[in-house]
Amino acid sequence: MMTEMIANLKNTFQEQLDAATTSEALEAVRVAFLGKKGPVSDLMKSLRDMSVEEKKEAGQSINALKNYFEEAIAQKAAALEKAALDMAVRSAKKYNPSIPADKEVGSYHPITLIARDVEEIFSSMGFTVEDYAEIVDDYQCFESLNIPKHHPARDMQDTYYLENGQLLKTQTSAAQNHIMKKYGAPLRAIFPGRCFRNEATDACHENTFFQMEGMMIDKNISISNLIYFMKTMLSEVFGKKINVRLRPGFFPFTEPGFELDISCLICGGNGCPSCKNSGWLELCPCGMIHPNVLKEGGIDPEEYTGFAFGLGMTRLAMMKYGIKDIRNFNSGNLKALSQFESN
Ligand code: DAH
Repeated sequence: MMTEMIANLKNTFQEQLDAATTSEALEAVRVAFLGKKGPVSDLMKSLRDMSVEEKKEAGQSINALKNYFEEAIAQKAAALEKAALDMAVRSAKKYNPSIPADKEVGSYHPITLIARDVEEIFSSMGFTVEDYAEIVDDYQCFESLNIPKHHPARDMQDTYYLENGQLLKTQTSAAQNHIMKKYGAPLRAIFPGRCFRNEATDACHENTFFQMEGMMIDKNISISNLIYFMKTMLSEVFGKKINVRLRPGFFPFTEPGFELDISCLICGGNGCPSCKNSGWLELCPCGMIHPNVLKEGGIDPEEYTGFAFGLGMTRLAMMKYGIKDIRNFNSGNLKALSQFESN
């Protein structure tokens, strides 16, 4: 008896639900079926006259019916709301700020994510995070870094010049002098930045890329400090223990200068095609700050020493996320970029 009744109720309910095309009509259906005077309520009342056994079975059927109605109404409500929104969007003649945004949210650029990681790690080790200009002058980018006019080291850093003689900075090292003058010694600072070079682009070269420069100046700072900080930072960034090694490298603003390699992330140092079987990947040029650069920044090289590094952040992001083509970073290719976390 009850089963038949429920089946009939479901049929009438469905008919009325299909006919409801506005939220008001839907509300009327809800009241008709789930309201105090509706069939669900009547059925509930009828339980009073049943035996315990009957009550148990009927109670379950009534509850299931109630859930069925509620769910169908909620689904229909969502469908009506969406249809109303679509209508509003279609008929909106001009920008309407009251229409909710698309569900698709943006995501952070992988360079931003890496920069935040590195900033957080260095901040926790007492480094301040500095901001600096992208348009600089010859003194900041070269002269103050012990690279006089006509020095051959300039050849590798051709860039874009403005008519007033200023230039787009080729390296974050361009901020070293400014930061030394701003804080004096001792100091610990990192400064991320966008750099520019006149490069033909390919999978490994870009005319626009990011570096993270770091400097630590104090009494008795040595290469051991440099190795310690780099090893700690890189192990944190990659979430595993990273070994580093230094090879000699030449930069006019360091003495001595190094190329810092990290143990290959793929094979862990045993040798594989990614590291050309050497077990090492080149990552970060660095060195002890040249006495001339300290002096130019107003710091006495007899009293203080320091290290500096110019981490290739774009390269680091390529390694961390396995990005094979550097051009993806500036491409605006949302499919490539949206795979990264959005918080
Ligand atoms: N600025 C250099 C470049 O872009 C990298 C570099 C080398 C930065 C040594 C440093 C350093 O701070 O000590 O090629």
